[in-house]
Amino acid sequence: MKDDLSADSITNNLATVFIGRRVVCYSSVDSTNNVAKQEALGGSSEGMAVIAGRQLSGRGRLGRSWLSPEGSISLSIILYPPLYYLHTLIMLSSLALVNSIGTVTGLRAEIKWPNDIMVRGGKVSGILIESSVSAGVVDYAVIGIGVNVNLQLRNFPEIAAFATSLSDELGREIPVLFLIRSILAEMENQYLNVLGGGDIYPEWRSRLLNMGKRVSVQSGDFLIEGIAESVARDGSLLIRRNDGILERVIAGDVKLFQ
Ligand code: BTN
Repeated sequence: MKDDLSADSITNNLATVFIGRRVVCYSSVDSTNNVAKQEALGGSSEGMAVIAGRQLSGRGRLGRSWLSPEGSISLSIILYPPLYYLHTLIMLSSLALVNSIGTVTGLRAEIKWPNDIMVRGGKVSGILIESSVSAGVVDYAVIGIGVNVNLQLRNFPEIAAFATSLSDELGREIPVLFLIRSILAEMENQYLNVLGGGDIYPEWRSRLLNMGKRVSVQSGDFLIEGIAESVARDGSLLIRRNDGILERVIAGDVKLFQ
């Protein structure tokens, strides 16, 4: 991890009340989500953040691996939301990321349903939310955020076809510390807004790039093709199939055709 990335440099004068007030930094770790889960099971406070300079076994959605070399952000945040708000974590985290990327870099980031963060058609960031619920109570939710910040994608042929990085898009390095602090502050803004009854659904929907486009979605064993017509308030994607039937998809992998 670079010298300027320490728990102190992240928490010092951070504009938050609880998210990122306690931070643990590792130069290298298997997965920050694994560490955060252990912390949560041990009763660590809400908002605690685990950050690593690189991950050795970073995990992505749908059981995939996630490449997290030096120059990327690997960040996991522990939350204990009421069950009612659990489904909003995808929306609020995606919004926090597009806002932070916009503030720090000036780039317009968009959301590819359900929660890939895209810049100019390339995936720049992904979110893996892992939670445990017992008897209607959320034991914990871990928001795992990976961002390709200062990476030259040509050095990573395994992801270069579909991914991008902030530095490749801007042609210069991005201050990682500044971006982490911005993400923590945005996460807290969005989370407090939701807990206070705010409605982030319209803004989330407006930042989705799939709407109105022809898509195919692999959801479990099923391949659904059609037009991405809308998203529901619970975050599911509504696809108008070629035979006219409206299909609701809760989770999956989307391919865009136009
Ligand atoms: C995806 O798009 O598939 C989600 C990628 C999520 C990666 C982040 S990096 C920090 C946290 N730790 C992990 O092992 N995964 C998440």
